[in-house]
Amino acid sequence: MNDYFYYQDNQFYAEQVPLTEIAAQFGTPCYVYSRAALTDGFRQFSEALQSREHLICCAVKANSNLAILNVFARLGAGFDIVSGGELQRVLAAGGDARQVVFSGVGKSIAEICMALEAGILCFNVESEAELDRLNEVAGSIGKIAPVSLRVNPDVDAKTHPYISTGLKQNKFGVPYDKAVSLYKRARDLPYLRITGIDCHIGSQLTETSPFIAAAEKILALVDELAAAGIRLEHIDLGGGLGIRYNDETPPAISDYVTALLGTLRERSEKLILEPGRVLVGNAGVLLTRVEYLKHGEEKNFAIVDAAMNDLMRPALYDAFHEILPVDRQPSPQSSPASGRGGERERHSSIYEIVGPICETGDFIGHNRNLSITPQSLLAVLSAGAYGMSMSSNYNTRPRAAEVMVDGNAVHLIRERETVQQLYAGEKIIL
Ligand code: LLP
Repeated sequence: MNDYFYYQDNQFYAEQVPLTEIAAQFGTPCYVYSRAALTDGFRQFSEALQSREHLICCAVKANSNLAILNVFARLGAGFDIVSGGELQRVLAAGGDARQVVFSGVGKSIAEICMALEAGILCFNVESEAELDRLNEVAGSIGKIAPVSLRVNPDVDAKTHPYISTGLKQNKFGVPYDKAVSLYKRARDLPYLRITGIDCHIGSQLTETSPFIAAAEKILALVDELAAAGIRLEHIDLGGGLGIRYNDETPPAISDYVTALLGTLRERSEKLILEPGRVLVGNAGVLLTRVEYLKHGEEKNFAIVDAAMNDLMRPALYDAFHEILPVDRQPSPQSSPASGRGGERERHSSIYEIVGPICETGDFIGHNRNLSITPQSLLAVLSAGAYGMSMSSNYNTRPRAAEVMVDGNAVHLIRERETVQQLYAGEKIIL
């Protein structure tokens, strides 16, 4: 819970709108975002960075809904993309290609062409082979590719191994010890222009020390490059700042930025950051309704209408998301269990919160103490980042609707998918 998602008179609200109203209007499962929360996170970055030239490149992968990208674009954001598809989303959302950095280890020729034509700020290059490909593709269409090498600083981010990216054994970036020679090679290639340096060591970091360790290593390289006559326009220190899902205590945005600025001291290069989760994670919840309560011999299950296809993080990383009842009025004066079944008795128990998908890994939360009825609405918190963007259609489940609350206004920002949309491209053979 935060300033944007909170209880009032035992009803859970997004800004000024009770979530029961959103469920009644748009159905469940449904992602609900707070525009004010999105704006607030972005402003915390820009205020902390105001003393120096900077660009905040929101990581599109965390949440790529056009309305969300548009909120950030209007605040002056740039974007960190990892595919041609994300570039098209940024442009469709009103983002400025000249403020886009393109990361990722597998950029295709088509994606490189598209990004060169659009005129992005730079490619965050992740291998020597990519340098060669960029040079060739740019030459073939008469462009110069702006490049920044993503250097792997070999720093332990101390986060989940699947989302740790800055260690030698990870697939990301170019080896630290080879960086200077690769810059020299890039300098000699005719269709490349060196613009900066980049690193990103992982995601959901809850301490500043790994960021500082990585920044210091990158800055040592910047000095080495300057000594070799290679001057950079920008230093990109990636994203990765964590959020509170449960009992984590990540640094505040301002403390994190202040710590980074401390390492940069009097340098004049523009600072780029690529935050994703911290901008959107706690700006969104997943609204879901209980379908059945199943009191088993060993466990009690609350089977809800959201599943691992809607929110994959628990199944994939064993991630924790807080789950709260939307109506927490104590029984027996419970409010009518919205709509379908009239008033029902609440069952206070420890529940496994699971979805309808045919996999044991399909859970949203374990061992949650909840007082609920069949048809209760639940809010799965901290679902704004890597929720909808990682959703799938497994079990032919149409993806959830997405809604953005802005004060007392509610906007549908993505319609619930239909099953017809899911198989529209499929063909039966004769
Ligand atoms: N820049 C690059 C190059 C990245 O690979 C990422 C995230 C970011 C920026 C943004 O990182 P953030 O500020 O959001 O931590 N699906 C996982 C997270 C994967 C993150 C991948 N890279 C999850 O749900 O926890």
